[in-house]
Amino acid sequence: MTFILLYFFSGTGNTWWVAKTLAEKLENRNIETQLVNIESKDEELTKTPDMIGIAYPVYGSDYPVNVGEFVEGLPDVDDINCFIITSILGFSGDGALTLEKTLKDKGYNLKQAVNFRMMNNIKLPCSDPDVQRGRSGEDQRSHW
Ligand SMILES: Cc1cc2nc3c(=O)[nH]c(=O)nc-3n(C[C@H](O)[C@H](O)[C@H](O)COP(=O)(O)O)c2cc1C
Repeated sequence: MTFILLYFFSGTGNTWWVAKTLAEKLENRNIETQLVNIESKDEELTKTPDMIGIAYPVYGSDYPVNVGEFVEGLPDVDDINCFIITSILGFSGDGALTLEKTLKDKGYNLKQAVNFRMMNNIKLPCSDPDVQRGRSGEDQRSHW
């Protein structure tokens, strides 16, 4: 049976949801998938993967720093296929592809990279109803 190791980092949950949903769908197709949070120190890897996936939120059209460090620390392999999934708010740029060379240098062949546009989870202070209540537009603008 094909075994996929799906590493993920998620700041606020969007990428976790995408990665978890993909893992469930792969399992439904009899593709064994282990979901591994890169921030968790005690995840035990069960066996050598046939393929790896890396999931992360796009930050500034790029990968988050900790994801880059994690990939740098992956073991060198001899020709393993991999894929990348990202979650984005609206515009990825090359954010799903900027790890390609690092992965290739380590022996991982990037076969597919997909961005998933997710719901907005950014909260600005001026969108707080308590702040808005009782203030004219001009007051609000001068406050912020
Ligand atoms: C520092 C930072 C930079 C971001 N840069 C981008 C960006 O360049 N393009 C984009 O579409 N979304 C950007 N986002 C939004 C996140 O990628 C998006 O909300 C993502 O779904 C968050 O995933 P998470 O819940 O797994 O952390 C950025 C978010 C943060 C915190």
